[in-house]
Amino acid sequence: MYKFTPESDADWWEVEALFDLCFAPGRNALSSYRLRDGVAPLKDLSLVARDPQGIAGGAIRYWPVRIAPEHGQSLRALLLGPVAVHPPTHQGEGLGRMLIRESLALAQAKGWDRVMLVGDAPYYGRFGFTRLDTIEMPPPTNQSGFSASLSPPAPGRD
Ligand SMILES: CC(C)(COP(=O)(O)OP(=O)(O)OC[C@H]1O[C@@H](n2cnc3c(N)ncnc32)[C@H](O)[C@@H]1OP(=O)(O)O)[C@@H](O)C(=O)NCCC(=O)NCCS
Repeated sequence: MYKFTPESDADWWEVEALFDLCFAPGRNALSSYRLRDGVAPLKDLSLVARDPQGIAGGAIRYWPVRIAPEHGQSLRALLLGPVAVHPPTHQGEGLGRMLIRESLALAQAKGWDRVMLVGDAPYYGRFGFTRLDTIEMPPPTNQSGFSASLSPPAPGRD
């Protein structure tokens, strides 16, 4: 059983260490991080999952972003991620799915109507995200590995 709590200031470095462990070195150089520069994550949606020993087994963060359309009003959306689950102790137990579903349900309840992410389409497709090729990300996006999705934050379907 995991306990999900909104990420507090006291959780920050433990969650950073988890992300450092789960992602390749230099994760902060990715284009999605340029959208986070100088902006605080949304505390009410960013969650930490702790196991019965109180150790953070997984975490997810969200940032607010604006998407500028060619015509019309800019769109206020959420940037989902990073999301990570501790390897090898907790991966593959459904914790990533629970973190994403729980936080998307919270986002929906709070009135957010779009969620964007950069990630693996096969994984995020499970939650109703679809690939969009029309979003232009800041450099240094590697277009071959780029997958952005916009979706209503429905809690998912699988
Ligand atoms: C991606 C991640 C958060 C998933 O968490 P998890 O708790 O292990 O995942 P779940 O138990 O909810 O789901 C496991 C399923 O997702 C699949 N899966 C996991 N990562 C995947 C990926 N990158 N692409 C496609 N499928 C993936 C697994 O194969 C498994 O499939 P199955 O249900 O058919 O057996 C975790 O693997 C992780 O921390 N990875 C490293 C960091 C990362 O890549 N984060 C996401 C990018 S922002």
